[in-house]
Amino acid sequence: MPYLPPVTDDIILVAGGVEMLDSVKGMWSKLTRDASVHSTHFSRYFREKSWEERKEEFLKKAGLGRLNVDIATHAGKELGFCISTVIDGAGEVESLFVEECSRGRKVGEMLMQRSIRWMKDNGARTMAVFTVYGNEDVLAFYAKQGFHPISIMLIHDA
Ligand SMILES: CC(C)(COP(=O)(O)OP(=O)(O)OC[C@H]1O[C@@H](n2cnc3c(N)ncnc32)[C@H](O)[C@@H]1OP(=O)(O)O)[C@@H](O)C(=O)NCCC(=O)NCCS
Repeated sequence: MPYLPPVTDDIILVAGGVEMLDSVKGMWSKLTRDASVHSTHFSRYFREKSWEERKEEFLKKAGLGRLNVDIATHAGKELGFCISTVIDGAGEVESLFVEECSRGRKVGEMLMQRSIRWMKDNGARTMAVFTVYGNEDVLAFYAKQGFHPISIMLIHDA
């Protein structure tokens, strides 16, 4: 693989709340498509998940606590995004995505560092992230950010 220099020096992170949710709809769709490709048993669940449904969940969580959206841009181009929440001291990285052409250049790390900082600043006593079963490759990335697996949730597919 060719060496890709980090682009983090020139990256601008734009942060905001629920008013920014619709700005990530396009990237969120790619993330969900990615999840449907990787999911071992629930490909269809991710394929059929709509932005409207997910946005409703985000709005509900924002109403119960706090929600932050970070969008990473470089020279006016969107590279990735992260959505984080804190409810009653429980922080969660809800959604994290970096555009395929920008991966491996520390954009994901930068978004995670920002998310962790934001969750701590907003009272998180715990921080969690859920990932799709079948997308185990990403565990190495999360381990570098200090997140390690604690359990596997099983869902009945009826
Ligand atoms: C996972 C993702 C956010 C990583 O973003 P990225 O910008 O490519 O990651 P970074 O360049 O910041 O990587 C930071 C470190 O993690 C490592 N890493 C990143 N992705 C990895 C992977 N899939 N497998 C193993 N290591 C990985 C990098 O090699 C780097 O290691 P280093 O610090 O030793 O150099 C990105 O690949 C992505 O959006 N994937 C598809 C969506 C997804 O899986 N999101 C998570 C859903 S829960």
